[in-house]
Amino acid sequence: MKKVRKAVIPVAGLGTRFLPATKAIPKEMLTIVDRPTIQYIVEEVVASGIQEVILITSEGKSAIENHFDYNYELDTILKEKKKHALQEELALTSSLIDVVSVRQKKPLGLGHAIWMARKVVGDEPFLVLLGDDLVRSQTPCCQQMIDLYEQVNESIVAIQRVPMDQTYQYGIVEGKKTNFDRTFKVEQMVEKPAQGTSPSDMAIIGRYLLMPDIFDALGNTAPGHGGEIQLTDALQFLAAQRGMYAYEFEGKRYDAGDKMGYLKAIIDIALEHPTLGEPLQKHLRSVCGCKNHT
Ligand code: G1P
Repeated sequence: MKKVRKAVIPVAGLGTRFLPATKAIPKEMLTIVDRPTIQYIVEEVVASGIQEVILITSEGKSAIENHFDYNYELDTILKEKKKHALQEELALTSSLIDVVSVRQKKPLGLGHAIWMARKVVGDEPFLVLLGDDLVRSQTPCCQQMIDLYEQVNESIVAIQRVPMDQTYQYGIVEGKKTNFDRTFKVEQMVEKPAQGTSPSDMAIIGRYLLMPDIFDALGNTAPGHGGEIQLTDALQFLAAQRGMYAYEFEGKRYDAGDKMGYLKAIIDIALEHPTLGEPLQKHLRSVCGCKNHT
């Protein structure tokens, strides 16, 4: 069995849902408490033992590459000012991972973005993380998927149950329960089914562990939902051809690509912050009009 060593993170999207905030900065660089969203995603990758990240980028995304690079000038200034803790924290960011970036020249869809990684990934299984989906869990979601992969040796998509009236926003999986914990054998997949037509409530969230055969499948996938090359369509082909599992991960997922999901992530993460947590809790109590606030 081949080891999972690489993670692909598509970051080419325009971020129109956050305009005008994202007019001049990538949506992946929007801050959640004290770090950009993309850093949480990369930290999940690193905590799962992966050191090579392939970013699929587009024009205007260089801030992301810079964020994970070494900044000599900043480092020198922090050193001179004896801001050692900050200096160390920044050094961690740049030493977290090896970043390779590949340009997606045209916005042809998520499937096309992943296909762009084929030469860098090569013939080995790899992870895909979508930057809008933040997952907080005791065992990182990617690690949970790697643990399952080591038992099933097949592609895995992470899923969560969503209300039936929200299924139209997701790739949806229909599958049969297996003997593995929280795991289903995929029987059918459909990208963003029209209201009332969804085969189940099991929604794909932005974590995938894929066998390299997905690249051939993607290369042969015609544009689907929204006229774009959809990853879900290629996954459906792969599931039928060689099998695939859906895994109901343990943890909490935030849709950081949506304003409300983004705010919830900020509040939950800040509430656990060592210095911000308590004062924020007091503030929230006072805003809500709770009696016992001080
Ligand atoms: C993408 C995928 C979809 C998946 C979703 C999870 O859609 O195409 O299958 O359910 O991510 O966030 P997007 O949200 O990019 O439109």
